[in-house]
Amino acid sequence: MEELYSKAETLALRRKHIGPSCKVFYAKDPLKIVRAQGQYMFDEKGEKYLDCINNVAHVGHSHPYVIKAATKQMELLNTNSRFLHDNLVQYAQRLTATLPEKLSVCYFVNSGSEANDLALRLARQYRGHQDVITLENAYHGHVTSLIDISPYKFNQLGKDSKKEYVHVAPSPDIYRGKYREDHPDPASAYAEEVKKIIEETQKNGRKIAAFIAESMQSCGGQVIPPVGYFQKVAEYVRAAGGVFIADEVQVGFGRVGKHFWAFQLQGEDFVPDIVTMGKPIGNGHPMSCVVTTREIAEGFGASGLEYFNTFGGNPVSCAIGLAVLDVIEKEDLQGNATRVGNYLLELLAEQKEKHPLVGDIRGVGLFVGVDLVKDKQKRTPATAEALHLIYKLKEHQILLSADGPYRNILKFKPPMCFTMEDAKHAVETLDALLTELEEATGMKTENNASTNVQCKRKTTEESSKPEGASESIGHVNGAACRQENGIYSKKRSVPSKRIRT
Ligand SMILES: Cc1ncc(COP(=O)(O)O)c(C=O)c1O
Repeated sequence: MEELYSKAETLALRRKHIGPSCKVFYAKDPLKIVRAQGQYMFDEKGEKYLDCINNVAHVGHSHPYVIKAATKQMELLNTNSRFLHDNLVQYAQRLTATLPEKLSVCYFVNSGSEANDLALRLARQYRGHQDVITLENAYHGHVTSLIDISPYKFNQLGKDSKKEYVHVAPSPDIYRGKYREDHPDPASAYAEEVKKIIEETQKNGRKIAAFIAESMQSCGGQVIPPVGYFQKVAEYVRAAGGVFIADEVQVGFGRVGKHFWAFQLQGEDFVPDIVTMGKPIGNGHPMSCVVTTREIAEGFGASGLEYFNTFGGNPVSCAIGLAVLDVIEKEDLQGNATRVGNYLLELLAEQKEKHPLVGDIRGVGLFVGVDLVKDKQKRTPATAEALHLIYKLKEHQILLSADGPYRNILKFKPPMCFTMEDAKHAVETLDALLTELEEATGMKTENNASTNVQCKRKTTEESSKPEGASESIGHVNGAACRQENGIYSKKRSVPSKRIRT
């Protein structure tokens, strides 16, 4: 493909014209990607990279069926939703059919942030309450209303950055959190924390509008809430006149394999009041959605204010949304997420046995985290090591990101067409790089004795800031990664394999 600018020129122009807070992935040597197909991305030299992080290209980059649906509709018409159009209602019908019955009313918008912002408006209008309970380390979007409820972001702004209407509940993380895997009932214990917050808030004369949480925390560190937690939280929040918002922007659309929505992992007895969707919904086309109950929607409408969104729900976006649903079904991508996800988890579990750096493996379907630790007993986050591995993997043409509050968790959330062979290749390369790193840092010998020891208590060391906290943080598709690599920069010695399709 003919390039308009050399990579150096592209970078220079970007520095000149694009806001400096818009970070690039791999700041030391950014990638210039010119095309992508399936689970692969190609740079300007035609080098092929295995994409293990892109949950936006859900059914695969440049999927021909989705492209065809978009082109066909673009040739015909694109306009706003004030005109009747079959695509809008057909898509609303198809989308709500994937959800529990009471979630039947859609608002189509254009990004995850827009969806969450609108969800907050719906919640606040419903009972006239204002306050929001959010989870530790949560990220819900980049607009003002969402930075305010995203500790992942506002914590970087200093200690007084939390607004008084925002209340932060502990992340239901049974590996690093307050209640761990040895607790008899972590779901109830974490839900009790929310209840305490509600009681405290009410004592201060404040009223809860909503509890918002990702159905599985992504930026927050690949946290899978214990089963039963959401049911209990919903009970407490609803009793206080609030609603439960499930943010499925990262984890929805079959990524967990056995369910279409990640909140369904909690059990059939749990139904959120509002669900927000984004990223994978349009396979890269900017669209998103808020789905809620008739009652909440009527409450929102009661203000008399029209809700108008210029691009939301346009015929092209809806055609794309429909095509994405078709492909998920036709190509059995949920089945693939289960099969490949289980295989990936198996392979990674072997790495946990083998490597002192691997503290925990957790995930469902094609949403998997590798929690790297400097010490298995203390669970000290291996932040610099994670960053080092991300850069090394890139040398081997594998794209992964590191995230979580300590940026020590390697995140797998690839396009849903990821194969067993891709999983094997990624884990074999990771295995070799871990060995190389552990040998170079003398970790193998030091930590061998404690390899299988599990620690249940929180240590002061792990609650401290990650090393080099002043380094900049980049955010790619919701994945934050630190931009400097300061641990160990020996020339690559693991043989570089070509990725096969
Ligand atoms: C969980 C979650 N919610 C919402 C958003 C915001 O989505 P967008 O960047 O499309 O506005 C993100 C983005 O990373 C996210 O990870």
